[in-house]
Amino acid sequence: MSATADIATANISTGDSHEHSDKAIVVRRMDFSFDAVDTMDWYRDNPILTAFIAVLSGTFPPGEQMFIESVRHFKERVTDPKLLDDVRDFTRQEAHHTNQHKLANEKLESLGWKAQKIEKRVEKAIALLNAKRSKRERLAATVCLEHITAIVAEYVLTHPKQLEGMHPSIKYMMIWHAIEEIEHKSVAFDVYITTGGKRKMLYRIMRAIAVLFPTLTIARTIYLLWAARRMPSWAQIKEAWTMLFGDEGMFTCIKEPFKDFYREDFHPEDHDNRELINKWKAEIETYRAG
Ligand SMILES: [Fe+2]
Ligand SMILES: [Fe+2]
Repeated sequence: MSATADIATANISTGDSHEHSDKAIVVRRMDFSFDAVDTMDWYRDNPILTAFIAVLSGTFPPGEQMFIESVRHFKERVTDPKLLDDVRDFTRQEAHHTNQHKLANEKLESLGWKAQKIEKRVEKAIALLNAKRSKRERLAATVCLEHITAIVAEYVLTHPKQLEGMHPSIKYMMIWHAIEEIEHKSVAFDVYITTGGKRKMLYRIMRAIAVLFPTLTIARTIYLLWAARRMPSWAQIKEAWTMLFGDEGMFTCIKEPFKDFYREDFHPEDHDNRELINKWKAEIETYRAG
């Protein structure tokens, strides 16, 4: 199926989004169909790259649930009506991401990638974290993870070549998700700061997440390959390495924007991505029309 045809079949509705031209956060109801994903290695015929995206897809539903809850705990203390409005749209966007990724994970599981097992593992890890950490620390963790999500989203949208060879249904789900992550990237941060959160705590938690998140994602990718009994070739290992750690690779390119987080006056909107997402939103609309 062509990318054009695929996005055209994705049902997009912005009916509940209060969409205005000046609105930064738009809730888009998407209804991707993953029926056409019929090959196991749907990303460049490369099992490592496919497993890597499957791990991210498995991580999103419990992760986003945690984001929603951690922000909700502080909603009562938010007085700015604009921020309250943003919290509502942030919650709706994340809830839709969860729904679509859960559907994708069902498909991935049927293809042999244990994405739903990843969901359950992450769920357990979060429950453990919730039992040990304060609400403030959980919100701080959300702020850190939202920063990582936003810079990965920026990377995806500025390196469209990386998306080549991905099955269109999954590719457009990732593009849609990336756009919305950029749209709401400052919400958790603003709630954290305006309700009295200290940057010192953010730095402490980010130092832990900066080690844990990539380590766990890579370990889970290896687990998925093992569980699916997939042994990649040397050429596939080399390709995956280049795409993740090469000069233009994801982990290489997000290093600089990642470091900005530790600046004393950092705000997520310092990375102005409006032009970037406008370009992609237009592209999605063109695909829809096509
Ligand atoms: Fe999300
Ligand atoms: Fe998010």
